[in-house]
Formats: sequence, structure tokens, C-alpha cells
Amino acid sequence: MCRSLVVGNWKMHGGRVEAVRLAGAIQALVVGCASEIVLSPPFPFLPLVAEKLAGSGIGLAAQNVAVDMSGAFTGEVAAEMVADVGCQYVIVGHSERRTLMGESDQLVADKVVAVLRAGMVPIVCVGETLEERQADETEAVVGRQLHQVLENLKDLPAAGLVVAYEPVWAIGSGLTARPEQVAQVHGFIREALGHRGDGGRILYGGSVKPDNAEALFALENVDGGLIGGASLDEESFAAICRAAG
Ligand code: PGA
Repeated sequence: MCRSLVVGNWKMHGGRVEAVRLAGAIQALVVGCASEIVLSPPFPFLPLVAEKLAGSGIGLAAQNVAVDMSGAFTGEVAAEMVADVGCQYVIVGHSERRTLMGESDQLVADKVVAVLRAGMVPIVCVGETLEERQADETEAVVGRQLHQVLENLKDLPAAGLVVAYEPVWAIGSGLTARPEQVAQVHGFIREALGHRGDGGRILYGGSVKPDNAEALFALENVDGGLIGGASLDEESFAAICRAAG
């Protein structure tokens, strides 16, 4: 079995001083924790957090990247740039980017390729909206999102690919998917990945908190979590990391 993975997605929160403080506080609290831990601060703070985490074993993820490697793309950040400042992972296709920034399945799939080409591991987010769940379309939606990514990979090695199942209705809402809902979708994802999922991990995300983390992480095919709100509090995030292993 793979080592579990817990990723803290800070989204667009905090400032320079708080980013360094939070990284240091988390580092101190997770010493001896068996799970792999990754922090994802906003772009400007990546080098500072990388410096703070040096030698700690805690990894670094960017929250997004451009498809292109360089060029006249004002405001974009290339995969190689975030690799250059110390990222090993990139969150790709988070539902906030899909819905608020209009990222399509094809764009997400192209970003996955850009991340792999830059030598990093994509954390590919998939998940259904409440309307889609109520219309019994969860597997169709997640299947479509994954299919596009796998099609795009072609022969690119995808060893260690990370998929995060994040039901859109559970993100930041305080509503967590029920264990049987999580288990079902994670099983579906494992099957859909087939051999491309070998050595990869499937994370759950959406209102994970210290009091529900253990039950979620105990489920079959749940290899860790993608944590939003609770990752901004060092005590909560460390408790979640401990629950993962
Ligand atoms: P949340 O966010 O933990 O605040 O629900 C999860 C995410 O957006 O990755």
C-alpha cells in the first residue's frame, strides 16, 4: 500500500508573514507523522515556504499552472517555473478553477501533461455538483473528467498520478460526503484509472476536519486528503495529518 498523502490547499489566503509562520507551525506539529505532507501556498509565497520547509520532508505544491512552457502569456505561470522554486506537485482542475475560471476538461487535461513534462506530479481534481449528484450523474461526470486526462496522457508515464475526488457541494460548505458515497466514487476512480493508477493515490477533499478525517481515511481506496479551510489552522491540519497515518 502507498504512503498516505495529505495536501493543504491554502487557496488565496494569508500574507507573506503568515505563510512562513503557518508553514513553520505545521512543520513543528507533524514531526514523526507517517503520512506524506504537502503544502500549497499562493504563488508569491512558494519560494519563502520552500525555504522554510527545507529539510523537513514536507512537500510543496502550486495551486495551478499554465499549459504553455513560456512565451507572451501575461499573468500566467509556467510549470517549469514552479518546479524551479521547489514544487513537486501541482493541483490541477480544482473545481473553483473549473467553475469560476471556466477551465474545461480539455484545458485541465493539457495542464496535467504540462505538469508531468516539467517533472512534477499533478493532483487532478474531479467531482460532481449537487445538481449532477441529484440527477444521478456522479459517475458519468467523474468518468468524463478522468477520461479526458487519461486520453491526453497517451504514452506519457503517469506513475504516481494523484487524483482528488472533491464533490463540489462538499467544498467549503461544511457538508462532507457520507462514507458510503466516498467509498463508491473512490472505487469507481480506481477502476477507471486501471493500470495508469498503479502507484497512484486517490485523495478525498471537501470539508475534511479533525473530527471526520479518521473515518474518511479508513475507507478503502482513500489514500489521503486535499484539505482547504482546515489547512489554514496548524492544529486542525496536524490532527488531520495524524489521522491519515
Ligand atoms: P475545504 O476545501 O476543505 O475547505 O472544503 C477543499 C478543497 O477545496 O480542496
